Amino acid sequence: MTEMSPVTDIAAKKVPALPDAQSVTQVKHWTDRLFSFRVTRPATLRFRSGEFVMIGLLGDNGKPLLRAYSIASPAWDEELEFYSIKVQDGPLTSRLQHIQPGDQIILRPKPVGTLVHDALLPGKRLWFFATGTGFAPFASLLREPETYENYDQVIVTHTCRDVAELEYGRQLIEDIRKDELLAELIGEGFADKIRYYPTTTREESPKMGRITTLLADGTVFADLGIDAIKPETDRAMVCGSLAFNVDMKDTLEGFGLREGANSEPMEYVVEKAFVG
Ligand code: A2P
Repeated sequence: MTEMSPVTDIAAKKVPALPDAQSVTQVKHWTDRLFSFRVTRPATLRFRSGEFVMIGLLGDNGKPLLRAYSIASPAWDEELEFYSIKVQDGPLTSRLQHIQPGDQIILRPKPVGTLVHDALLPGKRLWFFATGTGFAPFASLLREPETYENYDQVIVTHTCRDVAELEYGRQLIEDIRKDELLAELIGEGFADKIRYYPTTTREESPKMGRITTLLADGTVFADLGIDAIKPETDRAMVCGSLAFNVDMKDTLEGFGLREGANSEPMEYVVEKAFVG
């Protein structure tokens, strides 16, 4: 009998024979409630920026425990990035929050979703409305060349409870503005199209309040020095909690926008951010 080398031993522990297994390459904890991570990308996986996939871990019963996660990286990236909440008694995220580089997760390579350019009619301004981890699909779309090819302006609103929860999005946008590879891919000056509008609801910050309130009273338009949303020029993508999505649908319909789908593009689209 040949003896296993220690390296093989560790590798064997780290690489159980999971179907659709991918390796974690990077983990970053943003707050005690939020973290992001990157994993290897299956060679066969093709997706449109803004779509989601099912990812997870093996449950105690040996069955995969999977949840829908928006891919936060763009379609051209060689790895996949995800942005997640940590729920201490959540079946998946109570465990997923402990992953480390080299660990394996399960990833079903079947991307789907409505937060895609194909589901919107052509327009001039594109709005991304996010709360919490609902920022994830927009992290993908903000690095997608088509976003800037299709629109003159990209307005990103992100509402979180406190300032620390805005950090993932704030840093991503700051990095995008400096990214030479993206400038080469998309075109010099593309980042000038981005308007970033972060707000908090439970901690003091330069702009406080729910985005729904700030849209209803016109504060957003006054702050950005732009016209109110109208169906002729504006397109919107919404991603957050169920309650947020419902309120944003009402708000956008109030501005005259209609909900679109892959099969029938219109002026706005909505998707629920994963929680749990
Ligand atoms: P609030 O603090 O007033 O509840 P959560 O962390 O619970 O997912 O919430 C993320 C952010 O989304 C919070 O700032 C929260 O504001 C805001 N929010 C929650 N529900 C709604 C809603 N229906 N409309 C607008 N904003 C919302």
